[in-house]
Amino acid sequence: MNTVAITAVGHYAPEKVVPNSHYESYLDTTDEWIVTRTGIRERRFLENGATSDLGVEAAKIALAQRGIGPEEIDCIIVATVTPDMFFPSTAALIQHKLGAKNAWGFDLSGACSGFIYAVSTGVQFIKAGTHKKVLVIGADKMTSITDFSDRNTAILFGDGGAAVLLEPTDDPEYGILDYVNYMDGSGMEALHMKAGGSAIPSTEQTVKDKMHYIHQDGKAVFKVAVVGMADVSVEIMERNNLKSEDVAWLVPHQANMRIIQSTAHRMGIPMERVMVNIDRYGNTTAATIPSCLAEYYGDGRLKKGDNIVLASFGAGYTWGGIYVRWSI
Ligand code: COA
Repeated sequence: MNTVAITAVGHYAPEKVVPNSHYESYLDTTDEWIVTRTGIRERRFLENGATSDLGVEAAKIALAQRGIGPEEIDCIIVATVTPDMFFPSTAALIQHKLGAKNAWGFDLSGACSGFIYAVSTGVQFIKAGTHKKVLVIGADKMTSITDFSDRNTAILFGDGGAAVLLEPTDDPEYGILDYVNYMDGSGMEALHMKAGGSAIPSTEQTVKDKMHYIHQDGKAVFKVAVVGMADVSVEIMERNNLKSEDVAWLVPHQANMRIIQSTAHRMGIPMERVMVNIDRYGNTTAATIPSCLAEYYGDGRLKKGDNIVLASFGAGYTWGGIYVRWSI
């Protein structure tokens, strides 16, 4: 059976930078509160366009890096909770905009663990031997579902897209070496969008009642995220006999700096070996982990042979981890 490697990675951050001072101007909040409680200093807003546009830009960067055209892609998996529309899938829209005329694909809803779930899924198509190039995209236009009058959630999120290319590799020592995923649907109440689906279809009243936004019990999510993300990261290390000194980088979902620190602490990994960009982008949901990979690979800090552990926790609840020996 094939080993599967990440052979290219791209990140697209929209141009508009929104600093914490923006929220100070109209909400009862401060830059100091936001920085100390979350680690976020600024985030990006996509002013024109949709999630598919974030995904397309990220995909173009990844394809250019690999030096291949869009027609070589076999399958596109888009992790998102902010699809352009219910149907067709954002994957279909990206396929068209990108010109990936030989690809099929689908959207995958795993919230903040969407990228981990999508990579775990993409790996199967290549291991099966039926696909050679699977494009996995994590993209979310979180501003499209953010209640900007709610200080509890407005400050947390941003827009972004990132993509990786999965391909078979001859060398079993490199690539995606292990993964583990979990889900506990009893967490729905703590983090969800109330209306717009088949349970509560959109009406004038649901709009008035602000039921189309992110609803989060931050404290409840924080408590389970701290445990879940650390547990799954330690499990990945133990399953693969990795000691903390063997891990070149922890690549955590970027939801809250304190959750990231606590995960690193449980793994025995100093913060110098933890990828962090939450200060500049906030929580971009499915895009956070691949955006870190793209930035750290792009500036040379992530190197061939590095053992890295990807870890996430999000709505569902969903959580998961991936062990990669970086191969490019
Ligand atoms: N500015 C100032 N005060 C704020 C605020 C803001 N932007 N947002 C919340 N507060 C207030 C709260 O209203 C609360 O006030 P109260 O005690 O008078 O009710 C107080 O700060 C403390 O709130 P609390 O919820 O305990 O803060 P916290 O330390 O848990 O931080 C979050 C809040 C949302 C940053 C944090 O809980 C969190 O990150 N949760 C997890 C998010 C997450 O991982 N989501 C996963 C999906 S990706």
